[in-house]
Amino acid sequence: MEVLNIKNLTKVYGSKSGGIKYTALHDINLMVEEGEFLAVMGPSGSGKTTLLNVISTIDKPTSGTVLVDGKDIAKLKEPKLSSFRREKLGFIFQNFNLLDTMTLKENIVLPLSLANVSYKTVQSRLEELSLKIGIKNVLNKYPYEVSGGQRQRAAVIRAIITEPSLILGDEPTGALDSKSAKEVLNCLDELNNNKATILMVTHDAFAASYCKRVVFIKDGKLFNEIYRGDKTRTDFYENILKILSVIGGDNSDIG
Ligand SMILES: Nc1ncnc2c1ncn2[C@@H]1O[C@H](COP(=O)(O)OP(=O)(O)OP(=O)(O)O)[C@@H](O)[C@H]1O
Ligand SMILES: [Mg+2]
Repeated sequence: MEVLNIKNLTKVYGSKSGGIKYTALHDINLMVEEGEFLAVMGPSGSGKTTLLNVISTIDKPTSGTVLVDGKDIAKLKEPKLSSFRREKLGFIFQNFNLLDTMTLKENIVLPLSLANVSYKTVQSRLEELSLKIGIKNVLNKYPYEVSGGQRQRAAVIRAIITEPSLILGDEPTGALDSKSAKEVLNCLDELNNNKATILMVTHDAFAASYCKRVVFIKDGKLFNEIYRGDKTRTDFYENILKILSVIGGDNSDIG
């Protein structure tokens, strides 16, 4: 089954205000099946964040449709929209977005208390995930008392504890050193092996090489896509670098 189905998506900024129009996304078609692990790459300004914002219902398409679990998200209105976002989507941001006044554990269970999940369910999911992801021993610490990798792994658990249909990441390893980035990527890989569907935007070819498919966008259009298949991660990484050198989106874009 497909978790995400993007059909003829176009996003034009400034089309309502009557100011200067800018087409950030142009006729994008993209289908993501359940259990996929996908990276979206492209040069700065190519439309990656715009795409993520439209998928995550933060922004609306100018034309075309975005179906999540078969539902047209642009048609949802509050309060249905908020509960849809909470139940179907999990977000992992570059800067963790953990609250410093709460322990990791409190940060993680926050979305569940909003979603009205029972205390027992909360405890058992937390137990299972924190063991698997390896931060059980630091759950009672505050974000400033743990490493960047531990913080981001807590953010990953927070994103997935509601068991969303689709996990969205915006540069989830962007603020991490390479060791912490590997911890988080291994953790995403493990989740994906357990059938989670993950779509992340990244500048980093190393991070993208953990995915099963990489979609490249340039000037708001789909440029190319490659599948890892049975290639080793190193070979896949080399492939990704080659395409980036053609479209001009490499790590030098950071900052
Ligand atoms: N609110 C807005 N109003 C007008 N134009 C915008 C707006 N947001 C983004 N754009 C333009 O749309 C294009 C795509 O922007 P977007 O943020 O999606 O790029 P990106 O691929 O995420 O880039 P980066 O890698 O630098 O984060 C850019 O040219 C940008 O200037
Ligand atoms: Mg961006």
